[in-house]
Amino acid sequence: MYEALMTEEMKPWRDLLLVHKFAVEEIKTKLDILDEEFRNIHDYNPIEHIRYRVKKPNNIIKKLDRMGFEPTIENARMHISDIAGIRIICSFTNDIYHVAELLEKQDDLKVVLIKDYIKEPKANGYKSLHMHIDIPVYLSSGVVPTRIEVQIRTVAMDFWASLEHKIYYKFRNKAPSKITEQLKICANMISILDERMLDIKNEIGSLDLEDETLTKDVISEIELSDDSESME
Ligand code: GTP
Ligand code: MG
Repeated sequence: MYEALMTEEMKPWRDLLLVHKFAVEEIKTKLDILDEEFRNIHDYNPIEHIRYRVKKPNNIIKKLDRMGFEPTIENARMHISDIAGIRIICSFTNDIYHVAELLEKQDDLKVVLIKDYIKEPKANGYKSLHMHIDIPVYLSSGVVPTRIEVQIRTVAMDFWASLEHKIYYKFRNKAPSKITEQLKICANMISILDERMLDIKNEIGSLDLEDETLTKDVISEIELSDDSESME
């Protein structure tokens, strides 16, 4: 009896997670197509790698609780934008806006919110471009527009964010100021690094006009070393 009750109670949660899993699969296909197109047709790929996840029910419930909402499916749907989360890692800052634009252009995707933490970083130094996107998921019962949170950032921004995330959790939001200050300094260094790397890339690009053969060689060497790294 208890089992049956639990199952009945859990069903709407299972359905909620399932529809978000389908949404992730749909956008994954879209991004895989772009990634493969870039790799095969263009000589440059703005996408370094992509990570996907669907939030676990207990984390959805914890988040609702933190936000002061009852743990209901309705509240999860209404107030939690990152049940389905996608993180796209790019090489250069301008790639971030390029990828965002490619998603915005897709007719079946509805961009409902853009938060540009690159133009306006958070006080702690966090940088990324966030998009909330609604994607239609076609179920046997009909179409369900489903929200996805897309975070787009450079490799360097991702490196910073993952360390900051670990520190945040380790100290439960009460990191010593010495550490938060160091993180802020690193965030500035990372911004400078991203700018310099983009300058180098643009310089290689401008060489292209002067000596196409030389640049093609340089670019293919860069891509080769990129590939060998991602295989590790
Ligand atoms: P939540 O932070 O998810 O409650 O939503 P929000 O309304 O504050 O949205 P925001 O765009 O600020 O954050 C959404 C997500 O971005 C978070 O869940 C994290 O994955 C990431 N994020 C935002 N701020 C930070 C930050 O300061 N450090 C790190 N490491 N990640 C962050
Ligand atoms: Mg937040």
